[in-house]
Order: sequence, then C-alpha cells, then structure tokens
Amino acid sequence: MSQLFTPVRIGRLSLPNRLVMAPMTRSRNSDDGVPSELAITYYTQRAGAGLIITECAYVSPMGKGYVRTPGIATDAQMAAWKQVTDAVHAKGGRIFMQLWHTGRISHPSLLPEGALPVAPSAIKPAGQGWTPVGLQDFVTPRALAVDEIAKIVADFRSATRRALEAGFDGVELHAASGYLPEQFLSSGTNQRQDEYGGSLAGRARFILDVLQAMVAEAGGDRVGIKISPEMNFNDIVDANPQETFTYLVEQLRGLNLAYLHVALFGAKLDYHALLRPRFDGAYLIGGGLDQKSAEAALADGRADAMVFGGAFLANPDLPERFRQGAPLNVPDQNTFYSPGAQGYIDYPFLSGTNAA
Ligand code: PHB
Repeated sequence: MSQLFTPVRIGRLSLPNRLVMAPMTRSRNSDDGVPSELAITYYTQRAGAGLIITECAYVSPMGKGYVRTPGIATDAQMAAWKQVTDAVHAKGGRIFMQLWHTGRISHPSLLPEGALPVAPSAIKPAGQGWTPVGLQDFVTPRALAVDEIAKIVADFRSATRRALEAGFDGVELHAASGYLPEQFLSSGTNQRQDEYGGSLAGRARFILDVLQAMVAEAGGDRVGIKISPEMNFNDIVDANPQETFTYLVEQLRGLNLAYLHVALFGAKLDYHALLRPRFDGAYLIGGGLDQKSAEAALADGRADAMVFGGAFLANPDLPERFRQGAPLNVPDQNTFYSPGAQGYIDYPFLSGTNAA
C-alpha cells in the first residue's frame, strides 16, 4: 500500500500527499531579488505537491550569496511573491518560503556597497562562488559584533512577517548547507568566545534565537527548520556532529515547530534514527530519494513526508507520475541556474504539454 498518497498534518496544514518539493536555487530573479512572471508559472505547475518549499530568499541584502537569487526584504519582492502564493493557492497547493542569510558564502560583488561578507568568525571558506563577475575565490569575512547579530535575528523576524503578508503558509529556516546559521553552529567556523560561541550551547544560540523570533511572528506551527548533518558543503566542518545535532534538535522541543527537515548527503551516521525520536513535530527526509526508497521510509515509520529536489524540478507533475508509475523526465544540470524559461517552465507534463 502506498503511503505517499495518504494525507498528513504538518503544523496548521493538512497535506493531501507526502511529496514535498525541496527548496532549490534557480537564479531566475531580477538583480534586485524580485521574482519574475516565470516564477508564477514554475511554482504553479508544481502545485500538486503536498507542500512546496521555495528556493531560498534572503532576509536582508547582506544575506545574499548568489546571483539572481530572490529576497523577501523589500515591498517589490513581497508583491511579486504574493502573485506566486495566490496562483499556487488558486491551484489548490500549499507553499512555505525558505529563508536564509548566506554569511561568508557570498562575495563583495553581491553585497551593498561592495561590503565584506559577515560570519561568526573571520575564517575564509575554501572554494569559489558564482558572482556577477564570474567564478571568484571566497574572501575572508568580517566577524559580526553582538549588536549586529541581534539585528540579523530581527531581520529573520521581519522577513517572516513579510512572507506571511505575501501569502505564504509558513517559513523554513535554512540551517543546512554551510550558510550563516550552520556557520554559527559548527566548531570549524565559530571561534567566538562570547555568548554566541565558546560552548555547544553558545554555538547553537544563534539558530535558537532566530527560530524564536520566527515563531514569535508566525507561531511554531508555521515554522520549519532544515539541517544537513555531515554534508560538509561550503567548507563547513564540525568536530562532533553527532553531539552538535543531538543537542540542537533537543533544544527545539519548546518551540513546537511544524517540522524538522533533514537532508542527508554522504553522512556516515544514521541521523534519522538519532534525531526523529527527539523531535515532536513532523519529520521530513530529503537527499537522493526515489519513489521506492521514499515509500520504504514511510512504511518503516522513519518519516512523515519525503522531500524531492531534482525530480520535482524536472517533473512538474511528479505526484501523478509516481501514482501511475510513469517514466520521469531527467533534470538538465546545464539549466539549473541559467536565466530564462528554458529548463525552468518547459519540462513536459505527462500529457505532453507544459501547461500548469
Ligand atoms: C543548498 O542550500 O544546498 C544550496 C543552495 C544554493 C545552491 C546550491 C545548494 O546554489
């Protein structure tokens, strides 16, 4: 018996199926972080998902880390997102917005007045990032002062309010993939000796402060968090990830969050077995799934819903394809981040058209 097509409650929402569209950067927005008309089509085409989680939106201009990524910091950005949420809701869908601050994974060419990226500590990430002037080495970020940290926490709160005003059903904190929240959490990127570092409790404080601010605005039942233990993306390293993520998840209890989204890419430890029993809300699994492994995880009770990235990107009608056992379109990596409609809204539906 398929579990993917049974309903499930996530916070305030009742999902008609357990297929969640993963947050994915698509870089089709204006240089000012405003989604275009294409985004309305892209998300509406995928409204058959139990839940859509949008590409990540920056909470302030200093939180931008990639070209043509969207924000939720200005009225123009909000107004454009409102068109997206209205269209998705009109199609019967549900949509959360993912929120981020990329911290040191940015570049002066992406930031206001060519500012240096900010981070918990002035530690340069290995590697390069895509900027308006092409692929560039990351730079040594500037360490945040405590009053600046409070300002960023407040930015997450305003962004949550703006997302709700723009019609989103909830918000997800991007605490995965080596961006600012995980830079605070991880021992390799946080060498602070104040209340935002020093101990595990200190390193976790930023994420918990941000979540508290988001919950104060939206209620816990409209807030989720994404983590990716041991992904080691963006040069993030932690000396003891098992201890770190156990502690973090145990601290989430009082917040009554809608869900915990755990994406595993190459982790050696079974974090799902470790973390799920420590969390009371819905548990979402992402990372390299197919229909068979998704059904197996649901059948074993390892998760409440399953998160698909590339498969949703290339198959707007993914739930219908799974239901029918139909073949899947293959995602084209060359158009993941390229501007324009190609590889964005032209993946065919089963019917052979690309109408929503
Ligand atoms: C991620 O959050 O894992 C992520 C974000 C932006 C990218 C790629 C990956 O361009």
